Amino acid sequence: MMTLVKSYDEMSDAAADIFAAQVKGKPDSVLGLATGTTPIGLYGRLAKLHRDAGLDFSAVRTVNLDEYCSLPAEHENSYRYFMNTQLFDHINIDKRNTFLPDGTASDFEAECRQYDARIDQLGGIDMQLLGIGNNGHIGFNEPAGYFANRTHRVRLTESTINANSRLFESVVEMPLYALTMGIRQIMLAREIVLIAAADKREIVTEALEGEITPQVPASILQVHPRLTVILAEN
Ligand code: F6R
Repeated sequence: MMTLVKSYDEMSDAAADIFAAQVKGKPDSVLGLATGTTPIGLYGRLAKLHRDAGLDFSAVRTVNLDEYCSLPAEHENSYRYFMNTQLFDHINIDKRNTFLPDGTASDFEAECRQYDARIDQLGGIDMQLLGIGNNGHIGFNEPAGYFANRTHRVRLTESTINANSRLFESVVEMPLYALTMGIRQIMLAREIVLIAAADKREIVTEALEGEITPQVPASILQVHPRLTVILAEN
């Protein structure tokens, strides 16, 4: 289902309604979460709903899509730091129930296998939040010759490095590798909510209406049975 809304704020409101309803309906939900600029408004609203309306996250479990390699959790560009400062520090979630791949793990392969096993142990993802990259990536599943199913280490593409290095002090500080959940765990999520600001309009249209191809990783979402897309027009 595609919902067109007027603005970034409306996109964030609509997504917050969906996630709040999920948490109320199933207090021990497993939420798949994303980082980046797009979900900041949503996370602010969830924090407010907790503060003002008592939305209860005490039993919620979360798994994030991805993490940069080599950045420690305290690094302000790590996705752990982002999640803590944007959301977890402002709600009553037990941080021991919040999971991201460990980008500092010395054995990447073992860490990836453990991350997939972790998601399976949690019973899979009830609701997965996604943003989308300019090149159609979801998580850090970059355009490729095949859909990478499992959690894996990925070399970020030039497009992603250019887009994300804006948040680093300089481009040379941006890690070139990340660990990302693969397509399998994303597609096994019982429900997916993709949010996109107006600058992503073209790639959202291509992903949802074009050919299903690993060159546009988000195109696989076309075959998910419960996909909600919220796209801001302005
Ligand atoms: C982040 C992630 C990425 C972002 C995408 C869009 O955890 O998985 O796929 O959702 O790069 O990023 P923004 O929202 O910064 O445009």
